[in-house]
Amino acid sequence: MKTVVVTGAGGYIGSVLTDTLIEAGYRVLAVDRFFFGREALPPESKSLEVVRTDIRWMDEALLNDVFAVIDLAALSNDPAGELDEEKTWAVNHQGRARVARLARNQGVQRYILPSSCSIYGFHDDVLDETSPVNPLTTYAKANLAAEGDTLALASGDYCVVVLRQATVYGLSRRMRFDLAINGMTRGLFKNGSLPLLRDGLQWRPFVHVKDTCRAMLAMLEAPADQVNGEIFNVGSDAQNYQVMPLARSIADAVGLPFEYEWYGSTDHRSYRISFAKIERVLGYRTNYDPTDGAREVYEALQSNQLDADDPRTITVDWYRSLIEMHDFLKETEIEGVLL
Ligand SMILES: NC(=O)c1ccc[n+]([C@@H]2O[C@H](COP(=O)([O-])OP(=O)(O)OC[C@H]3O[C@@H](n4cnc5c(N)ncnc54)[C@H](O)[C@@H]3O)[C@@H](O)[C@H]2O)c1
Repeated sequence: MKTVVVTGAGGYIGSVLTDTLIEAGYRVLAVDRFFFGREALPPESKSLEVVRTDIRWMDEALLNDVFAVIDLAALSNDPAGELDEEKTWAVNHQGRARVARLARNQGVQRYILPSSCSIYGFHDDVLDETSPVNPLTTYAKANLAAEGDTLALASGDYCVVVLRQATVYGLSRRMRFDLAINGMTRGLFKNGSLPLLRDGLQWRPFVHVKDTCRAMLAMLEAPADQVNGEIFNVGSDAQNYQVMPLARSIADAVGLPFEYEWYGSTDHRSYRISFAKIERVLGYRTNYDPTDGAREVYEALQSNQLDADDPRTITVDWYRSLIEMHDFLKETEIEGVLL
């Protein structure tokens, strides 16, 4: 059994990726701080070992005898990345560059950095991997810096691949309702009306969580000379959507009337992405579309498998509460004792 270290394994993508890798016959060494709890991962087994640590100081020895690293750990969206810019740089850029260096030192063969299409910023054209980038937020800038530092380590012995993921949707045990399609589905379930960012004409690319995990698996299994030192957008051309028609199809998918509530000021940020390269090089195609994602999330809400009001599902709010709780506890405890 080959071992794959997955950092951020307790997260939205990481927990689905852990299932995907175990099913494909890998042993997973899951590394996470577990900011959202440990529950998203199954119990330990011969295929799963769990280590609670931080990528900024994780022990290099954990990477001994490991085939590959998939480095998901990060403060995972634009607003969370602005809570404390210094920490975002320390984790999302330096933390991941550090993991990539330690992995190379330990003889790991492959390192995969799941980055984001948000590094393209906003353009009128359809963008591919050779298009100029325009990262607008700390989150996107830190991703771009991590891409540069990790790709620079690629060599004949060390295969490094960057994946620029579209916005992800679909069901996960660490659920995120701060992702557009999941949030729309939750709005329909809770209020019979979905939240829609003005003016609905903006374009965005999307990918199902199981499909992005399959792309990561494909990068482990592709011949190194096809992927080493390369950047791949992950998604499909057909899943570039304008937000308003997308929202209508989500309501149709769950069988509810198309009711919506506007929020935010008009969003002039719009972009479309080409996913031709990953299909051309690896024959990769997505299996799911947003209606599949909306249906599975809606059914999980209906059956109480998911809690629409779980405070951990809105990433930035949860991080903000953790910081406030931490401050409060520090002020309240005396000599380390709370009660
Ligand atoms: N979900 C998306 O739409 C999307 C799109 C593009 C890129 N990405 C990227 O994919 C990755 C995973 O995203 P996600 O949606 O699963 O986010 P997530 O927030 O659910 O998962 C991130 C995980 O990393 C862990 N973590 C954070 N800082 C850590 C640290 N210093 N040390 C160890 N563990 C730490 C958290 O506890 C969490 O379990 C992120 O890098 C994100 O930027 C996500």
